[in-house]
Amino acid sequence: MNLIVAADKNWGIGKDNKLLVSIPSDMKFFRQETMGKVVVMGRKTLESFPNGLPLKNRTNVVLTSDKNYQVKDAVIVHSIDEVLEELKKYDDDEIYVIGGGKVYEELLPYCDVAHVTKIDFAFEADTHFPNLDEDPEWEITATSDEQTYFDLEYTFVKYERK
Ligand SMILES: NC(=O)c1ccc[n+]([C@@H]2O[C@H](COP(=O)([O-])OP(=O)(O)OC[C@H]3O[C@@H](n4cnc5c(N)ncnc54)[C@H](OP(=O)(O)O)[C@@H]3O)[C@@H](O)[C@H]2O)c1
Repeated sequence: MNLIVAADKNWGIGKDNKLLVSIPSDMKFFRQETMGKVVVMGRKTLESFPNGLPLKNRTNVVLTSDKNYQVKDAVIVHSIDEVLEELKKYDDDEIYVIGGGKVYEELLPYCDVAHVTKIDFAFEADTHFPNLDEDPEWEITATSDEQTYFDLEYTFVKYERK
């Protein structure tokens, strides 16, 4: 299972249920990676999307504890056990955990590849991703050239479970 995340230099990933910054080429990378695949997210991340709608041309799997929660064109699951059962239907390589903080933390143990857009800036954040640089189970296996977006510098970094 994969995960994909954009994190700042302190592994901050969001504030007030929004992204810290939206970088067009990072959004493009996200679309390319996940297109046609299965995306797994928490209810709060779904609701942070434009009009709270699932992502097009992907199988959207949404975690919530609310048994009455329904969204057109999304599969709703209510626990980690249920999400893992649902995901057995798909090829492991086709599955992307796309956030947010709570869901990354819960599903990280089941992921073996992490696509991290590392932004070299410290934003004010209220949601964080676990620091993979301090986790001995993970190693960097690929890093892009440094990219820039106005005065922000960022790189696409691939981590894999050792
Ligand atoms: N930088 C990035 O790449 C990136 C990517 C995605 C999101 N984000 C940011 O992350 C923030 C949102 O993260 P978050 O941690 O607040 O929320 P989240 O992980 O998106 O969603 C949390 C919600 O998911 C449901 N959930 C999670 N685990 C569950 C379980 N085991 N069983 C049942 N339901 C479960 C619950 O919904 P109910 O409350 O309905 O029960 C929970 O409140 C936002 O700021 C967003 O912009 C950043």
